[in-house]
Amino acid sequence: MRYAILVSPSTNRVYAQSASALAMAELQVISTDVLGGALSDMQEQTLGSVRYVTFSAPALDELAHSWLSNLAATFALFGLDDAGKLTPLDLRRWDQLDSDLVSIQKYAGKTNEAFTKLLFNVTLAASAFALEKERRALAVLDPLCGRGTTLNQALMYGCHATGVEIDKKDFEAYSLFIQRWVKDKRLKHSAVTGHVKGHSKLDVELGTSKERYKAGETLRVTYVSADTHAVADVFQPRSFDLIVTDAPYGVQHGAQSGDAISRKPLELLASAIPVWRAALRPGGAIGISWNNLVARREKLAQLMTENGLEVCDSPAHRSFEHRVDHSIQRDLIVARAVTSP
Ligand SMILES: C[S@@+](CC[C@H](N)C(=O)[O-])C[C@H]1O[C@@H](n2cnc3c(N)ncnc32)[C@H](O)[C@@H]1O
Repeated sequence: MRYAILVSPSTNRVYAQSASALAMAELQVISTDVLGGALSDMQEQTLGSVRYVTFSAPALDELAHSWLSNLAATFALFGLDDAGKLTPLDLRRWDQLDSDLVSIQKYAGKTNEAFTKLLFNVTLAASAFALEKERRALAVLDPLCGRGTTLNQALMYGCHATGVEIDKKDFEAYSLFIQRWVKDKRLKHSAVTGHVKGHSKLDVELGTSKERYKAGETLRVTYVSADTHAVADVFQPRSFDLIVTDAPYGVQHGAQSGDAISRKPLELLASAIPVWRAALRPGGAIGISWNNLVARREKLAQLMTENGLEVCDSPAHRSFEHRVDHSIQRDLIVARAVTSP
């Protein structure tokens, strides 16, 4: 059977230019890593003047339908017959909160939210927990979290989210944002600011519904204002199922001071990857996006391998590179923690 995906219109024009290619790479990775290779013959196709990504697959089972509904690329999903007629399929979104949680904040240096979701999905797919996601709230760390795009995506998916960030202004901005957002949405929650090992810390616990909050089925977001190397002091080893992060690009990004702090992303990654690795549970996975004009893929892969991570290196995993602007060529790399550190 043939299916078609209408790719989400992106708010970022540059990212939108690469949207179909990224959609096909995402489809291929999910097919191989989670769906046992069920999807084939992916192509870009124009139907009635609109571009779609189409593919073949057997009749969709629960798992395939659910993953296809939650691809970063998916705006709408259709069955496609031989005459080119589209039949809309319902989407089984994992989203547990309103989508403005990831889209409403606008600031220089924000990671595109569709790209963040893509990085999250391929990292989840690489882990041993892709199927467990439905049964328990996974623990996700963004150790360079900025103003929290990954944290918000994690919450959207019903995961516990933890962030670490060196720029104090980002901590303050996120702290204000998330507390205002949960209030505006009238979600039952608690918010506590305090300290851990000398670093400022915010803990928010929220219920996606009143009933869930009462039953103690809450989601936690923890944000620590610290250098990323503090992950080793603040969190127990093997605390996280997934690490998902967008590394500094090594270029000045608007008014964002954080990138000025880390002008040498490769040096930062070389010293931080061992720390992050220790925080990852066996079976977990780490996904990093970075600017490959300042660090080569081979070098990052080497750093990960030296730290006992198994790099996902299929042709699809190597197809995510795309242009952001004249000084940023973004790529992503994903690796698994097969054993204990
Ligand atoms: C590309 S940005 C991430 C943006 C984030 N995903 C968002 O959407 O808000 C990289 C972040 O790494 C932070 N950073 C750089 N060096 C750091 C360090 N040593 N420890 C912690 N954070 C650091 C920067 O301040 C910046 O916020």
